[in-house]
Amino acid sequence: MTTAILSALPEEQSSLVPHLLHPQRLVHAGRFFWRGDLCGRPVVLALSGIGKVAAATTATALVERFGVARIVFTGVAGGVGDGVNVGDVVVAQDYLQHDMDASPLFPRWEIPGYTRSRLACDTALSALLLEAASACVSSASGQFGSKNGVTAAAAGVLHRTHHGLVASGDRFVSAADESHRLRNSLRDAGHDVLAVEMEGAAVAQVCHDYGIPFAAVRTISDRADDTAHVDFPLFVQTVASRYAEHIMLAFLQKL
Ligand code: ADE
Repeated sequence: MTTAILSALPEEQSSLVPHLLHPQRLVHAGRFFWRGDLCGRPVVLALSGIGKVAAATTATALVERFGVARIVFTGVAGGVGDGVNVGDVVVAQDYLQHDMDASPLFPRWEIPGYTRSRLACDTALSALLLEAASACVSSASGQFGSKNGVTAAAAGVLHRTHHGLVASGDRFVSAADESHRLRNSLRDAGHDVLAVEMEGAAVAQVCHDYGIPFAAVRTISDRADDTAHVDFPLFVQTVASRYAEHIMLAFLQKL
């Protein structure tokens, strides 16, 4: 039973590759994939690409070409929920596309043909990811000093693990007023969103279509506000790959 580990960022993938036993690099659909064993489990490591279409293509290739039995996503996200801060970790409970709008033909945010807006992540895989993420967050809290180049927002703060709704869309949200508008309009419709990113909902939809389990963990790199474009690259360079490495290795040991 092969597990796909889909990363949003090359930094995350490259932190996992050195741990592979019998590594094999393959090219398919213009993408690099790594096959091997990680913590005694057969895995395929892949990069999602940026945005929903790229992520859906990669997820489809993982199922069709590599025959994976489940997909686990690791990446970063912008925090939009109250108290979802830089350095926190969000394990997705379910996903929604915040830029889906086929109204008035379908209710706002509903995926046409699916009679719903939200797609649930696999409960058992998400529970294991939550355990792995919580352990990593408590051991990392307080270690993000400004000397490591991490944003002031993450320095010396106790971090938290959250579990809830994540929204994806083909936009890097980088203005506080946009972030508030997005969060408030979703909340008014009963969707209390914790974080935004650009790929997860597409992968959730592909996994739903193929009937395979999906789970996702996202480290908060920015607050999707006016400094997001500064916080994001700094966080990616300094923290994201370490988080991905520790959470995914701990997760695989629990499988
Ligand atoms: N991924 C990380 N930060 C993000 C943001 N602010 N908007 C969309 N995707 C993100």
